[in-house]
Amino acid sequence: MTTPFAPRQWSSRFAFLMAAIGSAVGLGNIWRFPYLAGENGGGAFIVIYAITTMGIALPILVSEIMLGRMGRQSPINTMRKLIAENRAARFWTLIGWGGTVGAFIVLSYYSVIGGWALKYVELALTGAFAGETNAAAAEQFSAFVTDPYSVALWQTLFLAATIFIVAAGVTSGIERAVVLLMPLLFFLLVGMAIYATTTPGFGEAMIFMFAFEFHEVTPDTILAAIGQGFFSVSVALGAMMTYGAYLDKDVSIGRSAIVIAVADTLVALLAGIAIFPLVFSYGLEPSSGPGLTFITLPIAFGTIGGGVLIGAAFFLLLSVAAITSAISLLEPVVAWVEEGIHIPRKWLALIVGGAAWVAGIGTVLSFNLWADFHPLAGLGLMADKTVFDVLDFTTSNIVMPTVGLLMSLFAGWVLSSSAAEEALGARGKLWFRLWRFALRYVAPLGVMSIFVANVLM
Ligand code: PFF
Repeated sequence: MTTPFAPRQWSSRFAFLMAAIGSAVGLGNIWRFPYLAGENGGGAFIVIYAITTMGIALPILVSEIMLGRMGRQSPINTMRKLIAENRAARFWTLIGWGGTVGAFIVLSYYSVIGGWALKYVELALTGAFAGETNAAAAEQFSAFVTDPYSVALWQTLFLAATIFIVAAGVTSGIERAVVLLMPLLFFLLVGMAIYATTTPGFGEAMIFMFAFEFHEVTPDTILAAIGQGFFSVSVALGAMMTYGAYLDKDVSIGRSAIVIAVADTLVALLAGIAIFPLVFSYGLEPSSGPGLTFITLPIAFGTIGGGVLIGAAFFLLLSVAAITSAISLLEPVVAWVEEGIHIPRKWLALIVGGAAWVAGIGTVLSFNLWADFHPLAGLGLMADKTVFDVLDFTTSNIVMPTVGLLMSLFAGWVLSSSAAEEALGARGKLWFRLWRFALRYVAPLGVMSIFVANVLM
């Protein structure tokens, strides 16, 4: 049979690993993880994060890559093929649909925040942070996000870069980009972390991040760790399933998944080591969320010697991390349309990316013209949430846990043990039995707990 599209296959295990680590390492690692760790018990959070990620997100990651490699198509068509082969109910195609729709929605808002990172490269390079006070940095951020045209301009540039890479195809686009960008990202991050060790706030920052504060650990901490692990290793949005579909049969999925999860965690830790010493050196607040990255850090960059270059390097690193994640959100959708509509991939990437651009306008406006618009308030739901908040909440707390749960049930209970053993090349191995146990019992319970706690309570 001839395929209507260029063959979609990684040219090496290295290329696959760079693409998958590129998907995993993103905004979630660089601004969210360090702050979550600092606020939730430091070293205690890191230990809990490591345990929950290895026990829940990692087994699901293995099954997602495995399902992709078994089906060798986009998530929707992979699931269609697998249910036919395994005589399972159509219900399970929800894994493909949920992941694909979820990826599209996350791409729509992720590219707006990615655009902020790009804008801040420009601000850093033009010396806009020089001598900034807290009030000035907050004002600079607010002046930017309250201007819809400016936010839309940077969102457009960010998406254009993402579309350009995906349009060129799996090997000549995605693979070429990640093989270049991931080492760059790593180099910038290690450089910043080394620099951070020379600043006066280094000791205090290490205590903030790593001291074991067990009294700060609450049930919410554990839920935050599970949720963060899930988002951070990129499971449940079809990205890893699609990347698995392009993977050679001889590559060990178990070993690759461990490399991806460990690299993702190391980058998150390194990001904290790079960021917090600057925050503490200048007596700033290790506060949360967008504020830490887009308000607090610019103050530090505006004060330190060489801050123009260090600031530009940091925001470039953040932009690169975000682009390699955005690619993995666009690819599952493009792969699916490519299987049904036989026109060149470049047009399909443009159409799907253009649709994500339109969908992203709601997020662009959430910070300005629609700041007081709460779309679901009329239904008595999420009364204080903007369009961006609703999309973020629904994908992180409803779509991802649901797809993750279905994926663990399908791979753990519907697929026979021998089919999974064969697909993973793990006949008679101890790790296979551990994986299967984690997938059947530990992962579903862990995922259901996020769902119950965040949605129903
Ligand atoms: N893992 C990315 C991050 O930490 O920012 C986000 C992400 C990308 C989640 C792709 C899911 C996904 F499929």
